[in-house]
Amino acid sequence: MWSFGPFFILAVIVERSHALVVRGTRFQSRDQTNGVTLHSIADDGLDLRYTTNLTVNGQNFNAIIDTGSSDIWVIPPADFTFDNTGIPILAPFGGGNVSGVIGFGTVGLGSYTVQQQVFQNATFIDVGLVEDLGINALIGLAFESTQTSPLTATLEANGSNPIAGNPFLYNIFAQTPGQDNFVGISLSRTDDLEGTADASFTINELDPTYAGVVNAPTIPVVAGIIDRWRILVDNISVNGVNVPFPSSALSNAPAGSLVTILDTGTPTAAIPAQVISSVFSQIPGAVFKVVDGLVLEGSPIAEQVWTVPCNTTTIVSVGMGGQSFPIHPLDLSAVFINNVTNVATCVSQWSPGPANPDDFDMIFGDSFMRNFYTVFNFGDDVSQAPAGSSIQLLSQTNPTSAQQDVAKVRTAQIAAASSAAGAPAATAAGGGPAATSPATKHSGQPRLVVSRCILFLFTIFAFALQ
Ligand SMILES: *[C@@H]1O[C@H](CO)[C@@H](O)[C@H](O)[C@H]1NC(C)=O
Ligand SMILES: *[C@@H]1O[C@H](CO)[C@@H](O)[C@H](O)[C@H]1NC(C)=O
Ligand SMILES: *[C@@H]1O[C@H](CO)[C@@H](O)[C@H](O)[C@H]1NC(C)=O
Ligand SMILES: *[C@@H]1O[C@H](CO)[C@@H](O)[C@H](O)[C@H]1NC(C)=O
Ligand SMILES: *[C@@H]1O[C@H](CO)[C@@H](O)[C@H](O)[C@H]1NC(C)=O
Ligand SMILES: *[C@@H]1O[C@H](CO)[C@@H](O)[C@H](O)[C@H]1NC(C)=O
Ligand SMILES: *[C@@H]1O[C@H](CO)[C@@H](O)[C@H](O)[C@H]1NC(C)=O
Repeated sequence: MWSFGPFFILAVIVERSHALVVRGTRFQSRDQTNGVTLHSIADDGLDLRYTTNLTVNGQNFNAIIDTGSSDIWVIPPADFTFDNTGIPILAPFGGGNVSGVIGFGTVGLGSYTVQQQVFQNATFIDVGLVEDLGINALIGLAFESTQTSPLTATLEANGSNPIAGNPFLYNIFAQTPGQDNFVGISLSRTDDLEGTADASFTINELDPTYAGVVNAPTIPVVAGIIDRWRILVDNISVNGVNVPFPSSALSNAPAGSLVTILDTGTPTAAIPAQVISSVFSQIPGAVFKVVDGLVLEGSPIAEQVWTVPCNTTTIVSVGMGGQSFPIHPLDLSAVFINNVTNVATCVSQWSPGPANPDDFDMIFGDSFMRNFYTVFNFGDDVSQAPAGSSIQLLSQTNPTSAQQDVAKVRTAQIAAASSAAGAPAATAAGGGPAATSPATKHSGQPRLVVSRCILFLFTIFAFALQ
């Protein structure tokens, strides 16, 4: 079994608040409020989840922001009171189910308040480790439909007016009709030595730090089976050389393109196995192998995975909407330390698959989205969305300074991870920085350090609806 104790004790919450109104942009600002505070829940400098403060009936929740789903669920204290419909609800996420009853209450997010907002009072959640990270809620930022909103679907099946199931954002947009309807999201990098890409989450206003996004090309949302934040990917390159793409799982995708979901609820990424191999095989020193000691849900991972030198500075870039977005080398892999040999290995954070026929080829989660500021624009008429919806992206990664940061950050990460293991300084497999003087927090027997491979689990527990 995994031992999560040391990991979660080390988890810290880094809070950065931002965002003022931008005037004179094509996104008309509706109010003068500050943006919503976005927290990164990080461990040893690795960002695992992005959450915000949500209140329901005056109760505070730490809620994941999730562009892969549309509903709110909360895990309240037992004495929490709300307008209980008694209607059971089950939300099937990619990583597991969340179930409970449908309730209504007053929901607050930043300066925004919605009365009679529908939510799920969750009593069962098999999406592991979320509560252990201090997370007890989720707010969905995707489209309204019976497919993306189990609340809407369940209310409709129960004979209620499905409008009652409107997502929080739709209710906010309804408060100021006839204007653009959008959210802007920047996901911070806790270990960012550049200090540029701070976390930011704004509704109907832009964070001025990223105001340049108004000049970015508008990327239309592509239609698929389920209404999602889904766009075309023109290419993926390694040091400027494109890798071959397989055919898209979407019959309407232009030849040579793949289709991705942008999902803040997925910490890492899901990519076709063929593309993973094409990319990682071009990274000097990368090896496809079984990593001794790597476990998933308590079981050894017997399959081969891609490993890279921990200090790799290879730049992988993604082409979307006519722009090229460099991915920080630190976002390609995570450090794993074997508890017996004490060897640090940097393992790919791209999971193979899943391509869903006519729905999507890839999921770009937080490890991609940290590299660009994203505006999710629902269009003028929210009732028609995702028709008329679009995305604008502003690159946040300077490849040169990113490359300069790698060795220092990786040294710190390996030191932190080996200290979590109670192990002496780790040595990095395949070259790269080794820990210099790790603080020994747990003496005695070396133990398996699971803090790194937790990211595999989180990849599987993606908050994208099935
Ligand atoms: C967020 O919630 C935490 C815990 O309830 C609270 O301590 C903190 O002050 C809140 N932050 C904001 C900005 O409301
Ligand atoms: C999740 O719900 C589905 C029904 O939608 C069910 O088939 C599955 O067994 C559930 N999984 C768990 C772990 O409860
Ligand atoms: C709401 O959820 C909490 C936490 O799971 C649970 O203790 C409580 O019983 C639920 N309330 C109802 C009415 O289901
Ligand atoms: C709606 O849900 C309630 C509570 O579970 C149930 O009593 C009622 O029969 C449902 N109505 C329909 C039409 O399914
Ligand atoms: C990838 O596509 C983008 C447009 O989306 C383009 O700007 C870039 O030059 C392309 N990269 C390569 C290596 O062809
Ligand atoms: C990574 O570290 C190894 C061993 O110290 C070194 O040989 C190699 O040049 C480094 N690679 C990069 C890209 O810095
Ligand atoms: C290493 O971790 C595994 C899996 O948790 C455990 O079974 C084993 O006993 C650990 N080995 C040592 C030397 O602590």
